[in-house]
Amino acid sequence: MKPLEQKTINWGIIGLGKIANKFATDLQTVPGAKLYAVASRTQEKANAFAEKFNATKSYDSYKSLVEDPNIDAVYIATPHTFHKENTLMSLDQGIAVLCEKPFAMNSEEVQEMVFKAKEKNVLLMEALWTYFLPHYNYVLDLIENKTYGCFGPCKTRVIF
Ligand SMILES: NC(=O)c1ccc[n+]([C@@H]2O[C@H](COP(=O)([O-])OP(=O)(O)OC[C@H]3O[C@@H](n4cnc5c(N)ncnc54)[C@H](OP(=O)(O)O)[C@@H]3O)[C@@H](O)[C@H]2O)c1
Repeated sequence: MKPLEQKTINWGIIGLGKIANKFATDLQTVPGAKLYAVASRTQEKANAFAEKFNATKSYDSYKSLVEDPNIDAVYIATPHTFHKENTLMSLDQGIAVLCEKPFAMNSEEVQEMVFKAKEKNVLLMEALWTYFLPHYNYVLDLIENKTYGCFGPCKTRVIF
């Protein structure tokens, strides 16, 4: 197997709405990432999206996309009521999943998704991009070093 930095990741997108357009636009700027396939409930929409973003394949069903053996990772951009179903379907094929937020309808659904990812030993991630903003590292550092606390009118900084 090629080292990760040399491998092109073939992405698939499920559900071609508003956020899928944004994702596909940004994916074009990511080194080592290729939009390989897209899936919609209609072939016409899939074809148009594939043409717009230069995807190799376009499918008229989500299931057909996850059955394509060339897909490495899938971005799930359907409404959240379908996230569990679409995630399990992808993980079952051994495909890594980046699923839009909210992850699912409730914690039971999320547990099922996480359990399946562990069972299949495949990456599963919620598309919570704010987690990667620099100020998150700052906050995490504060928590790690326990340098948070009260900066109130007493002007005394309390270290917990
Ligand atoms: N838009 C944002 O800024 C944003 C931000 C954060 C999170 N999200 C999350 O991303 C997900 C998608 O949001 P979106 O704004 O892209 O929604 P959207 O424009 O409505 O697109 C959702 C897509 O899901 C597919 N779909 C499958 N079953 C559907 C059904 N019964 N009804 C409607 N669409 C169905 C459709 O794609 P096909 O017709 O191609 O099958 C549709 O285009 C949601 O979970 C949302 O919470 C969106």
